Amino acid sequence: MLFPEGVAIDGISGEVTPSTDRYTKKLSELSGLFHDAAAFDKVVAEGGDPIAYEVVDYRKQECDICFGTTIMMPGQVGGEYFMTRGHFHERKDCGEGYYTQSGEGLLLLESREGEVRTVEMKPGICAFIPPEWAHRSINTGSEKLVFVWFCATDAGHDYGTIRERGMRKLVVERDGRPAIIDNPNFA
Ligand SMILES: [Fe+2]
Repeated sequence: MLFPEGVAIDGISGEVTPSTDRYTKKLSELSGLFHDAAAFDKVVAEGGDPIAYEVVDYRKQECDICFGTTIMMPGQVGGEYFMTRGHFHERKDCGEGYYTQSGEGLLLLESREGEVRTVEMKPGICAFIPPEWAHRSINTGSEKLVFVWFCATDAGHDYGTIRERGMRKLVVERDGRPAIIDNPNFA
């Protein structure tokens, strides 16, 4: 039997208390994601393979909803900002919400039909991610980007589609600001 409880979420650190699970993605685990492979190898080697992001869950398998945080470090690879892998949900009826707590970023979304949208990530903005839109978050700031996500427990993650073909757009720094450009490697 599940019991109610209050879960503390620190909007600066992203810590979730109590949490049920967590994982960390080191930059080296994001091999193939960034358009500049040589710059990627250099940042991994010279930066000591830094953490790119961490995900902390509050998830009960017996319940249909779950939530947690994603804590994204600032950084760049060849002018491209640190980002998450990006995924579709396996369930075609499952959307998600991303409520930014601190930092600044861009949520890059792409529909199955190839439409591209972005939603600004900053405190006070809760991004609505409809079903069947791939989503990738990008830390465009100089501080951690922390957001709360909430979705169906069994939404499922399809990371493979984006890993294999990439997304149609890249988010890079141009003149000190984020710019959205075509991905020359898009398959
Ligand atoms: Fe998702």
